[in-house]
Amino acid sequence: MSPLPPGLIDIPSRPRLVYGDGTLGRIGTLAAELGVGRALLVTDPGIVAAGHAGRAQECLEKVGIHVALYEGVRENPDTEDVERCRQAAADARAELFIGLGGGSSVDTAKGANLLLTNGGAIHDYWGVGKVPRAMLPLIAIPTTAGTGSECQSAALIADPVTHQKMACLDPKITARIAILDPELTVSQPARVTAVTGVDALSHALESAVTRRRNSVSSMYSDAAFQKLAGSLVRVLDEPGDLRARGDMLLGAALAGLAIECSMLGGAHACANPLTAQFGVVHGAAVGVMLPAVLRHNAVPGSEAESAYARLALSAGWSSAGMPDAVAAATLADGVSRLLDRAGIPRSILDAGATLDAIPQLAAAATRQWTAQFNPRDLDLEAFVGLYTAAAQPR
Ligand SMILES: [Fe+2]
Repeated sequence: MSPLPPGLIDIPSRPRLVYGDGTLGRIGTLAAELGVGRALLVTDPGIVAAGHAGRAQECLEKVGIHVALYEGVRENPDTEDVERCRQAAADARAELFIGLGGGSSVDTAKGANLLLTNGGAIHDYWGVGKVPRAMLPLIAIPTTAGTGSECQSAALIADPVTHQKMACLDPKITARIAILDPELTVSQPARVTAVTGVDALSHALESAVTRRRNSVSSMYSDAAFQKLAGSLVRVLDEPGDLRARGDMLLGAALAGLAIECSMLGGAHACANPLTAQFGVVHGAAVGVMLPAVLRHNAVPGSEAESAYARLALSAGWSSAGMPDAVAAATLADGVSRLLDRAGIPRSILDAGATLDAIPQLAAAATRQWTAQFNPRDLDLEAFVGLYTAAAQPR
């Protein structure tokens, strides 16, 4: 998570990962091992309607843990959402947070936990390593395969006025346990599967080449990419395929672990301004930028080019012995095919952006935290080039 000096490896030991079909049913046992008696279950009405929240509650009550339900999670939670959830946790005298749902449920639980245990306001924790006191344990249970928030030490909470997303990064924020149950992801709408899957894929690809990457993060990035590239089409064609769902869920979590070590890069730096200015959904915004960023980073003879070549080979998109330059190009082509299949807009114009907004988008991208980790320097001119390239249909 933290910006370590290059060459220094710090392997995060959290979260404990519990993966497999039906593992939601283990939540009672896992929570009991934490020695808590009262839990706040943080989720949204869709997850309650799907029956997942009720099942979790039943398992927890069976082992004697009192459960209070907070089902007010909204997408892109802001500081007001987090304050409501904190109040619910205080009223329930919670000793454990459970975030059940998409990234928003996990982030809301993280933010509320932060305020409950450390006081103050989210703005106080915006940045790296600003959490002084220990937090309550958190069990994260994703129902989408995308953000990887269940494996990350970051809480992303928006300012309700400016809509600026504040990233609070501290190891104390990390979940104690992540339960990865593929069965929970089957009921999500096809569009959610597509855009969250593309986000996870982009996490694997960006973390594979950043300046912060190391041998451990590369292991996570490579494993994540193999699982995600091999299963994305399958879950779109056969939404009930639990094995493919499992690969997506595990791939997204592994990509989350990769980000902990190596951060992200240019596609995320470009995506956030597209979301802020034109309301493009995060996964679509990252996806629409991805081929341009892959091509920009694949400088002949660079380490990024050879990493891309390795990934293309692992996906079966290139063959052994192919020159790195050719193999890296097949990676961008293969990713473009996946983006087409996932219904990601073919250009930033198709996504709703305009050509005359490019200078403003580029200026905003230079201020993004992730830009500094991209393997190739990104200045204003480079960002203009990336947006201009992404304005052409891929
Ligand atoms: Fe992302």
